[in-house]
Amino acid sequence: MTEASPPIFVTARAGTNIALVKYWGKRDAALNLPAAGSLSLTLADLGSETSVRFVAHTDRDHITFGGREADARFAERVCRFLDLVRQRAGIARFAEVATANTVPTAAGLASSAAGFAALALAASRAAGLRLSPSELSELARRGSGSAARSIFGGFAEMDPGTRSDGSDAVAHGVLDPQAWNVRLCVAITAKGEKAIASTAAMERTARTSPYYRDWLASVPVDLDEARNAVTLRDLARLGAVAERSAMRMHACAMAADPHILYWNPATLAAIATTKALRAGGIPAFFTIDAGPHVKVLCAAADAAKVEAALATTPGVMRVLVLAPGNGAHIVAEQCG
Ligand code: PMV
Repeated sequence: MTEASPPIFVTARAGTNIALVKYWGKRDAALNLPAAGSLSLTLADLGSETSVRFVAHTDRDHITFGGREADARFAERVCRFLDLVRQRAGIARFAEVATANTVPTAAGLASSAAGFAALALAASRAAGLRLSPSELSELARRGSGSAARSIFGGFAEMDPGTRSDGSDAVAHGVLDPQAWNVRLCVAITAKGEKAIASTAAMERTARTSPYYRDWLASVPVDLDEARNAVTLRDLARLGAVAERSAMRMHACAMAADPHILYWNPATLAAIATTKALRAGGIPAFFTIDAGPHVKVLCAAADAAKVEAALATTPGVMRVLVLAPGNGAHIVAEQCG
């Protein structure tokens, strides 16, 4: 694309992803390089749709979120990300960006993973770049560490990499979304923003938690176990490692100073529900991210029972049942 060429208007979609082996800690904050690997499931339906075009007639980036002007903090993050794309494409034009969650009613599930994966794809294409999935993953990572995984569908693994420029800190696909009929039941236990943003929480954990080194040492073992379990489609094995990884991540964060506690009473109640389901013969396994919601992995055939049990758990406001989804993809591309 030259500065004189007409703008290309690109719309991309990406699903959010939920880590089953958690990412918690950075080896380089500026480049957003993870200190350890992670493994996740990309979800259908719950995600972001983002449209981008670089235009000649404006002197700043215009960002809307859900049809309204984006708040200053979000807009600033998107502008910094667009700078990376401009730099790489060698263009100076500013952009018009319209982004929206594909499930607007999913209270408290704001997803930077889906948002930056969709933005990486839409913005790079609109800027005239044709990046490989691996290059897109590297770019998306600069927006949010977990976004690198949402470039891929189904189960994806993030490699921490060893290079200082971050070129090998990228995700790759482990199992296609159609290959294993599982569900993730998301129990929403609160409204609004999380207590502390993940970047700040990771930084504080790394600096002050006495368990941080041991946490990092435990991740490669969990990753090997989870990758094998996914390859074998062994739900009980994957579920056991997912629960262990989530508990260790939260224990490590809780031991920071001041402590970082994301849970509320409904979080604990939903954990108890998951264990009761299991005691009753239904293989169901929880994970919890940097927030109070509980995400329960199960077979598609058991999803209705898991949904019903979570929905009647005290404090659970709503349950979403989500299937594995595709990686980031283009939904529209036109001149104008
Ligand atoms: O991508 P970030 O910076 O929002 O961090 C994600 C952190 C967790 O969601 C808690 C874990 C993960 O691996 O996604």
